[in-house]
Amino acid sequence: MSSLKVMVTGATGFLGSSVIPALQKNSGFTVYPIGRKECDLSLPQQVRQVIQTIQPDIVLHLAGLSKVSAAISLEDYFLGNVCLTQNLLTELQSLVKPIRFVLISSVHIYGHQTGVVEETALPHPQSAYAFSKFLAEEAVKKSSKSFSHLRGTVVRLSSCLGPGQPKGFVASDLSSKLKTAKTKSLPSISTGPLNAFRQFSDQRDIAEALSILLRLDQSTPFEIFNLANPEKKSVQELLNTFLEVTHLKLAVSSEATTHNPFNGLEMSTAKFHQLAPSFRFRPLRETLQDIWKCS
Ligand SMILES: NC(=O)c1ccc[n+]([C@@H]2O[C@H](COP(=O)([O-])OP(=O)(O)OC[C@H]3O[C@@H](n4cnc5c(N)ncnc54)[C@H](OP(=O)(O)O)[C@@H]3O)[C@@H](O)[C@H]2O)c1
Repeated sequence: MSSLKVMVTGATGFLGSSVIPALQKNSGFTVYPIGRKECDLSLPQQVRQVIQTIQPDIVLHLAGLSKVSAAISLEDYFLGNVCLTQNLLTELQSLVKPIRFVLISSVHIYGHQTGVVEETALPHPQSAYAFSKFLAEEAVKKSSKSFSHLRGTVVRLSSCLGPGQPKGFVASDLSSKLKTAKTKSLPSISTGPLNAFRQFSDQRDIAEALSILLRLDQSTPFEIFNLANPEKKSVQELLNTFLEVTHLKLAVSSEATTHNPFNGLEMSTAKFHQLAPSFRFRPLRETLQDIWKCS
């Protein structure tokens, strides 16, 4: 059987750096990494050219505006997350072959909900980032219902972390503060709120899990998967493990922030684990050790 052509957008990004090698390990895939250099996804002519040249069987759409920040405007999120997705979908509609479009979305679309939240829960986006991700999901849903050759998959991730993550995310910011404290022999650090929690997921495990999902056939037009480490941890627990790993003894002062008021939400990952029962995420300590080694 000939291999499936998998086009991956956002190839130069944090997740892309792990997803590309994970997919390339699989002999069933021929991988086409697409960074901004290959195609500016905001420009429909460039999108047309790249899609028509590759004629992909699967598009894994990682590109977008990934930072959650009140400082980024709704317009920028709309352009970065909704328009790029729609440009790809519009061009894929013209291909005369079965296509799978996989959108990487986020836990943020659920908003503030309690309990363990399944894929069937109603979205409740509370921030410009979440709203743009929700609209991107809707675009995929609409296309997959209107075009019988297009199957849509939405994968909602929780906070990813790992070596090489840029600043602006919980773990990378903590790591950078700890590094500065160590280098400058500072006695203390200040952090954002420590009571917020996340299902911190190593990006290398997410990459392997995505590779599994892409290998599985999807018979329905549209599916949603939550994908995250099932174990939730507070930022305090993350910090404690980081301090153990680094052997640093520091005073910590925590300040409230309006930067990202999302306190956390626990996603059920049962749907994914039913398809991949033996899949396991590595322990948080192992990820933090690798982050510290690379920082
Ligand atoms: N990281 C997480 O914790 C997390 C959690 C939940 C969901 N997600 C979602 O997962 C996806 C990947 O996240 P990430 O952390 O890998 O993000 P990232 O490191 O910020 O990477 C984003 C990628 O998108 C590319 N891109 C942006 N605008 C583009 C355009 N107009 N044309 C072509 N490429 C463009 C960027 O290229 P340049 O480098 O050239 O700008 C970069 O390669 C995002 O959709 C994000 O929302 C991430």
